[in-house]
Order: sequence, then structure tokens, then C-alpha cells
Amino acid sequence: MAPQTIHHRATSILVIGAGELGSAILDSLTTHPLYSPSTTKISLAVRPSTLTSPTPEKQAHQHTYREKGVHLVPADLEAWSEDDLARMLRDGQYTAVIHAGGFGVGAGTMLKLTRAVLSAAAANTNTNTTNGTDTADTNNPGSVGNSGSVEYYVPWQFGADYDAITRAGGQGMFSEQIDVRDLLRSQQRVDWVIVSCGIFMSFLFQEFWGVMQCERSEHDQKRREHGQTQSEHEQKQSEHQQKQSEHQREQSEHHHEGNATQNQNQDQSQDKIITITALNSWSDWITTTTATDIAKCTAELLYCPDTPVNQPVYIAGDTLTYSEFADAIERAVADTDTDTTTSTSRKSNSSHHSKHTPLLVRNVWPLEYLREESRRDPDNQLKRYRVVFAEGRGLSWPKEQTWSWKRGMKMEGVEEWVKKNWNWNWGGL
Ligand SMILES: NC(=O)c1ccc[n+]([C@@H]2O[C@H](COP(=O)([O-])OP(=O)(O)OC[C@H]3O[C@@H](n4cnc5c(N)ncnc54)[C@H](OP(=O)(O)O)[C@@H]3O)[C@@H](O)[C@H]2O)c1
Repeated sequence: MAPQTIHHRATSILVIGAGELGSAILDSLTTHPLYSPSTTKISLAVRPSTLTSPTPEKQAHQHTYREKGVHLVPADLEAWSEDDLARMLRDGQYTAVIHAGGFGVGAGTMLKLTRAVLSAAAANTNTNTTNGTDTADTNNPGSVGNSGSVEYYVPWQFGADYDAITRAGGQGMFSEQIDVRDLLRSQQRVDWVIVSCGIFMSFLFQEFWGVMQCERSEHDQKRREHGQTQSEHEQKQSEHQQKQSEHQREQSEHHHEGNATQNQNQDQSQDKIITITALNSWSDWITTTTATDIAKCTAELLYCPDTPVNQPVYIAGDTLTYSEFADAIERAVADTDTDTTTSTSRKSNSSHHSKHTPLLVRNVWPLEYLREESRRDPDNQLKRYRVVFAEGRGLSWPKEQTWSWKRGMKMEGVEEWVKKNWNWNWGGL
């Protein structure tokens, strides 16, 4: 079989940002079967200050990247002008640019970077040559007069289907993403791909997001603080059950419009309470993908010559209803929940590992409730995001219809992810 060759666009790749996604992308790029340091140069742009005075953690990361052959270069997406960014891209002779760190950047930054990318487009364009003479077009950022080397761009659009949400939808929060799409669709100089992955799986489990929240029962906290013996622990069970019932009542009172229902396994030893909250309803759908899988798909899209360009590409680790999501967590946690920390604090049996099944509480935040919460606190970005999710447009797509599925990519689902990541101290408990 003839060896596969990489697409030319993959000869010099610049990744911007090394957060959760950027670092996963660097890993995928340097471990992809088509990667070879002799054919692909990989660079990472971080802020100049991060390069000159990194925190110990970032210093360690930078060391790891350098060991993998990744070149570190300075760039500041917010402080630098469009021209500064375009110059940096031209000077670096990058053939592909992946923007992997846009979660917290200021308004206008994504559009500015996109313009800079188009300005540093490769010279092999055909649209701006008049009578064989290259001309610069100041209204046209990618014109030949500004030619650089960039052939391919992956903008910071890892998430929802913003075409479906529309400029007016999502309380106008995503209009810049639509502007970026419009700009990319209006030109032919740079190939691009948008990776629509749904919600990051890790984000879905963040306590502040509110969909999954963990808490220890009061009784368990005390038990852990005082290192009680197993018999003492058992004596407290009835008290503990009562506390759980109280918690249930509080939950449904707090979310008065919600529909808190209770899991059946209440009679077991439940020292932890997991509340799963559906945004809008139990039958609403969500698509979610791990950062590792988003990165794997991005590397595949970039390296392989037979992949789609100039369109959004849909991928999915899982597409499921909130009800299926809660069921998956319930199964995963029941399979894996072993309290090893407690055993070390028990005087009686230091090697004992006890099995606990947390109490799973199901709750709903209906759309109207979330809208009202957001109206009362209009500057709260998180509450606005919850409304978008509860509205449900552009947030999910059938897994079997995704590019990743059709390509046969092995993707991690919710149950698998929870099994892998669940531990007694989930949520910092
Ligand atoms: N669809 C979704 O659900 C979704 C989508 C996006 C993000 N998220 C969530 O957001 C979290 C954060 O995303 P992330 O960790 O991938 O990355 P991020 O926080 O968006 O970006 C962090 C990286 O961006 C760099 N950066 C920040 N400002 C910069 C600037 N002005 N110029 C150049 N570089 C700059 C940082 O560089 P320095 O090293 O210099 O600080 C860092 O390497 C994720 O963990 C995820 O949970 C979710």
C-alpha cells in the first residue's frame, strides 16, 4: 500500500492558545499517524508575557512542548492590531492556523484574527491577479499584494451550530461568530473548516454550569472529619436518610417550577448527592464531545487530503437527551463509586474500601424559569448561555449523521467519560 501523504496545508501549523483544547490539539497533531517532524513544523502562539514570565505550571507545559519539537512564538490576539497579527503570520510562513483559545477573549478579537489570516493568505490565489500582475486590494484583506503562506484556517467556533442559532438568536451573543462565517464564506483564498462539536464534555460537568452538581451529605462530612468507625457510620444511617429527604424537599422548593424526581436507590448507603438538572426538559437533546476527541478530529481534518473544506463539520462524542444523560451517569457512578479516602481515615480498618452509591436527584429548569433568571441578572453570561441551551436550537445533531461517525472515528461518550473521571472527590468534595 502506498504511504499516505499529508496535505500541503499541514506543512507548517500554528496553534493559537494552549488551554484545555489547544493542548489537546497539540497532542493530537504530534501523535497523528501522518505526523513527522521532517514534513510538518508545529508552532504554538502564546502571549508574550506568558513566554517571558510563565507561571511554574506554564513553564512546565512549555518545556514539554519544546521537547515534542513544538516551536513557541509570541502573539497577543487582543493587544496586537490586525496588521501586527498578519505580519506575524506572514513572517512565520504558516500554512495552517488553528485558533484554539478564544473562550475569554474580548469582542472583535475573533473577527480581527480572521481578517489577519485572510491578509496572510497564500499567494497561489486566482481572484486578484490583473493581467498577470499582482495587485493589492485594501478592501480585500487576502489580496495577492499582501500575500503570505496561509492556506487553511480553523477558527474558534468549536461548539454550537451558530448558523442554526442565527445572528438574532442566543440574545445576539454569537453575532461575531456569524460575522466570521460570513467573512470566510465571502472569499476563496483560504480554505477553512469549522468544527461543530456541541458542548465540551468537561464543561457539561462543571459545577457552575449547573447541570451536574455534587454535594456531600452533612452526615458524611462529619464522618470524614472525625474518622468515625464503621459501626458509628451505620448508626448514623437513619439520621442520614432523614437529611436526604430534607434535601429533596429543599431542592424542589428551590426550583419550584422544576420537576424534581427522586431515584429509587434511596435505601442504600448514600453519602453523596448528585443533582442532574435538565435545561428545559428531560426530552431535550444535547451533543457533547471531549476536548481530546475534538482535537483528534481537528488533526484528521487538517492532515488528511480527503477531508471536507469550506464548511462546518459536525462531530459528536455523544448525542443524548437529558434523561439518557442522567441514566448514563447513574450507571457509570454505580459501577465505579468506591470511597478510598474514607478508608484511610477509619481507625478500625485502614485498608478497607467501601462502596457507596450516591443519591441521584433529577431536576428541571424550564426555559421560562431560566429566561426570568437571566432577565433579573442580565450581565451574567452563564445565565444567558443556559437560556441558549434551554432554547435548544443548534445544540445537537444525530451522532450517526456526523462526519466523525461516518469516518469511523472512535469517540468517547458520556458514560465512558464519567467512568474514567469519576472519583469520590468529584467537584472538589
Ligand atoms: N463548546 C463548549 O462547550 C466550549 C467552547 C469553548 C470553551 N469551552 C470551555 O472553556 C474552557 C476554556 O477553553 P480552553 O481551555 O480550551 O482555552 P481558553 O481558556 O479559551 O484559552 C486559553 C489559552 O488561550 C491563550 N490566550 C488567552 N488570551 C490570549 C491572547 N490575548 N492572546 C493570545 N493567546 C491568548 C492562553 O494563553 P496564555 O498561556 O498566554 O494565558 C491560553 O493558552 C474549556 O475548558 C471549556 O470548558 C467550552
